[in-house]
Amino acid sequence: MSLDKVRNFSIIAHVDHGKSTLADRLLEFTGAVTERERKEQLLDTLDIERERGITIKMQAVRMLYKAKDGETYKLHLIDTPGHVDFSYEVSRALAACEGALLLVDATQGIEAQTVANFWKAVEQDLVIIPIINKIDLPAAEPERVIKQIEDILGLPREEVILASAKEGIGIEEILESIVQRIPPPKGKVDAPLKALIFDSYYDPYRGAVAFVRLFDGELKAGDRIKLFSTGKEYEVTEVGAQTPKMTKFDKLEAGDVGYIAASIKDVRDIRIGDTVTLAKNPTKEPVPGFRPAKPMVFAGIYPTEDTTFEELRDALEKYAINDAAIVYEPESSPALGMGFRVGFLGLLHMEIVQERLEREYGVKIITTAPNVIYRVKRKHSGEILEVRNPSEFPDNLGLVERVEEPYVLVTVITPKEYVGNIMQLCQEKRGEQKKFSYLDENTTMLEYEIPLSEVILDFHDKVKTLSRGFASYDYEFIGYKPSDLVKLHILINKKPVDALSFIVHRDKAYRRARLIVEKLKETIPRQLFEIHIQAAIGGKVIASERIKPLRANVTAKCYGGDITRKKKLLEKQKEGKKRMKQFGNVSLPQEAFLSVLSVE
Ligand code: GTP
Repeated sequence: MSLDKVRNFSIIAHVDHGKSTLADRLLEFTGAVTERERKEQLLDTLDIERERGITIKMQAVRMLYKAKDGETYKLHLIDTPGHVDFSYEVSRALAACEGALLLVDATQGIEAQTVANFWKAVEQDLVIIPIINKIDLPAAEPERVIKQIEDILGLPREEVILASAKEGIGIEEILESIVQRIPPPKGKVDAPLKALIFDSYYDPYRGAVAFVRLFDGELKAGDRIKLFSTGKEYEVTEVGAQTPKMTKFDKLEAGDVGYIAASIKDVRDIRIGDTVTLAKNPTKEPVPGFRPAKPMVFAGIYPTEDTTFEELRDALEKYAINDAAIVYEPESSPALGMGFRVGFLGLLHMEIVQERLEREYGVKIITTAPNVIYRVKRKHSGEILEVRNPSEFPDNLGLVERVEEPYVLVTVITPKEYVGNIMQLCQEKRGEQKKFSYLDENTTMLEYEIPLSEVILDFHDKVKTLSRGFASYDYEFIGYKPSDLVKLHILINKKPVDALSFIVHRDKAYRRARLIVEKLKETIPRQLFEIHIQAAIGGKVIASERIKPLRANVTAKCYGGDITRKKKLLEKQKEGKKRMKQFGNVSLPQEAFLSVLSVE
């Protein structure tokens, strides 16, 4: 098929505006999927994704569409993840396209990720087709949303398509607009191979598989490829595309989107954003924009009683084959024993990894509170230490010239009645206001620079509560800034528990210390002896609590009572023990390690 019959596009939207539903409709309309298959939710293949209703891994689907001009077009729909943790993947997916469908919910209007994704598409010079979805809903306000699209995004109202992915309204118009408005890819089949990797996954039969967009050249099984960033070479075993099933093709050529399998054992060898070329006749210039995955958030993962360190190591190794974005290395904690320090793209990514390790790899783990990477510059040597674990943070700041922490630019979009609440929240989070603007008479957009550590704490929940769910936000990393940070130690019966120590801004240290000792008092089970909890900076105790000793046996109050109730109590106790870690003679439950996160 000639290049002018190919169209490559993504759907970009705020979470829940209907991206997956629209994708399904397009597949159905073009006959790529039947109604029954559609029900199986083809684009979201992972269990957890389905349960949480979010898209984590993107994929690329090829469909054939017979347009009204009588011609058949090859459309590649490239899926993009919908969460801020994966924003680099979004930008790479968009780099593989010539156009994007910008989907806006007719009842919600423009939200934070609509704007963030819009700008990512503009950066890639994509043709943007604005679509207002969910017009079937009684609360739909298409006119208000059209006005927002005009005023905020600067797109003409004539270009807006009204649709309902659910009811199948506007689907043909969308497909026609893809064919008519999005330009075909440019590229030379006879030039050296230049392909962009925008996604990868591990397939038990094919090994690590790369999803690619070919800009130049062609590729077939048997070719020897080279990855630009590492120089590693592989022999291609299979090329193909999702239709939406993985389907083998003879070759991929310039303009195409598809997959490559090359007996690659580890998904980490396939770096998103990297360029694939031929070993024999390589391209001179890679596709611009590559950067290695950079974890922003770190936490300790330790086995609990039921799991050994070796089992955890095996599970992590197997898991990491599937997830190129995590990094991990062994660490040992006096309190928790042998475990791993694991780096994640963000908090959602961390939750996903935790859940999958337990569910799919059968290990029982304790996770310490997440922290960002701090930079500590030493006074005399000028050496810069990257602190990934609070226990490595120096106690004696006399030898330190400066401490820095990562900052993000947060964009919040909120109905104007909540703007006061949001501003107050951003201030409490040590934010500095950068912008304040009205998107329309009822909607405000705020921009703040805020330390990332404050955003990962409880920003999400707070924004949602303070705006009754109506505000949305997005953020991007902007760099490191100096900050007055101190390390807070937690001591249990006078002994410091390294896994509970954390870094906090000096102004907040007292308040946080108090909250945390109170939280620990609630979460640590009582024992036959008194437990003493203290929070200290350096050698100075700034907050403390005591847990009174237990007098009676837990089952004593059931004495003479119902035997099943007694059994239940014992079972409950056993259940609780699963996620406990012994510290001396004190049992610390999982919640204790997360108490550092408690801010109220
Ligand atoms: P993420 O994958 O989390 O980014 O969400 P999404 O944008 O893919 O949204 P999804 O397609 O899962 O739709 C979110 C919700 O909106 C679902 O409950 C859909 O059934 C519903 N929905 C999607 N399109 C329409 C529509 O046109 N009309 C109505 N009434 N509901 C819709």
